Amino acid sequence: MRICHVVGARPNFMKAAPLIRALSAFDGTRQLLVHTGQHYDANMSDVFFQQLQMPSPDVNLQVGSGTHAQQTAQIMSRFEKVIEEHAPEMVIVYGDVNSTVATALVCAKLGVKVAHVEAGLRSFDRTMPEEINRLVTDQLADILFAPSQDGVDNLMREGVARERIHLVGNIMIDTLVQMLPEAKRRIPQWLPDRYVLVTLHRPSNVDDPEWLIALLSSLQAVAQDIPVLFPVHPRTRERLKAAKLDTGDLHLLDPMPYLEFLGMQTAATVVVTDSGGIQEETTYLGIPCLTMRENTERPITISVGSNVLIGRDLEALRGQLTEVLAGRFKTSSIPNLWDGSTSQRIADLITRYLNSTRRSATAGAK
Ligand code: UD1
Repeated sequence: MRICHVVGARPNFMKAAPLIRALSAFDGTRQLLVHTGQHYDANMSDVFFQQLQMPSPDVNLQVGSGTHAQQTAQIMSRFEKVIEEHAPEMVIVYGDVNSTVATALVCAKLGVKVAHVEAGLRSFDRTMPEEINRLVTDQLADILFAPSQDGVDNLMREGVARERIHLVGNIMIDTLVQMLPEAKRRIPQWLPDRYVLVTLHRPSNVDDPEWLIALLSSLQAVAQDIPVLFPVHPRTRERLKAAKLDTGDLHLLDPMPYLEFLGMQTAATVVVTDSGGIQEETTYLGIPCLTMRENTERPITISVGSNVLIGRDLEALRGQLTEVLAGRFKTSSIPNLWDGSTSQRIADLITRYLNSTRRSATAGAK
């Protein structure tokens, strides 16, 4: 099997790592790892490769930052050459970032099979760049791996053939399960006993200065009662600087490596976030999660897990925080198939799929 994996941004790395490992157990598998370079800072990329014990990328497209059109176009034109040179049988794309849709589109045009890991998630909010990426990628993919039943239902509603869709569980949880003991060992000594852990990077939160000011003032007020730790994404760092905000009572930190951040989630009293992956990780860990978004493409983290949508309601944020700090919060459990074996299921399905594709090609040639 000649398989190419595409990663580009921070949330891709923990999804690709376990599948690369699972596929390497199959004899005769040749894997090519392409990094688009969408994320390029050492603490947004290199440290994840080290901690997740991933092979170094075979190819780095070094596209860097830009507008969505620039980034997507650069990835497409550079990735096309990689496909021409290496001729993989299948390209595996992850999640919903610009690198995902750009490379899926190149493959579709060149007739190369595409597998989409984390298919079918929908926020039903097309103002989110990721929603566009999800919709397009899922229309182009040949084989789609959904983390939860809602993903399967969404894909079928959009007319994707049932036999292309596989409910496999959440691959990010494979990495979490594997890394959790080490993450717990690394929980920093200096952490307070109780704290709020915050991450914010979505355009809907950080690109609107008026809202960013209101949200940050609320967090400053929270910090009078309980320490607020806030690892800051580079995009958010730029926006905070531009808005000249007072963040004096918040503990601003650099973006954290995977293991340290997982350790900090495990020990947190509550997490306030707009990340997709963190809604899932807190659900697995049973840590209360307050999501600063109007919607989520991961509804199972609400119906089954420990997530609550806050939207732009700062009263609701304050109210939920008061409840959590008083020890009151909804009970939650771990969704079906979020069990650490998703990568194995995907590797088996891909192997069977490519074997049968090859058999039908040979039969057709006779
Ligand atoms: C991207 C994904 C988002 C994901 C997030 C995780 C898309 C559309 N968005 O958003 O789904 O949740 O990654 O982090 O693909 N920057 C740096 N160094 C870096 C990377 C980015 O300084 O290594 C800065 C640049 O100023 C850049 C900005 O962050 O312009 C935004 O980066 P970009 O990759 O465009 O989107 P993210 O906001 O990171």
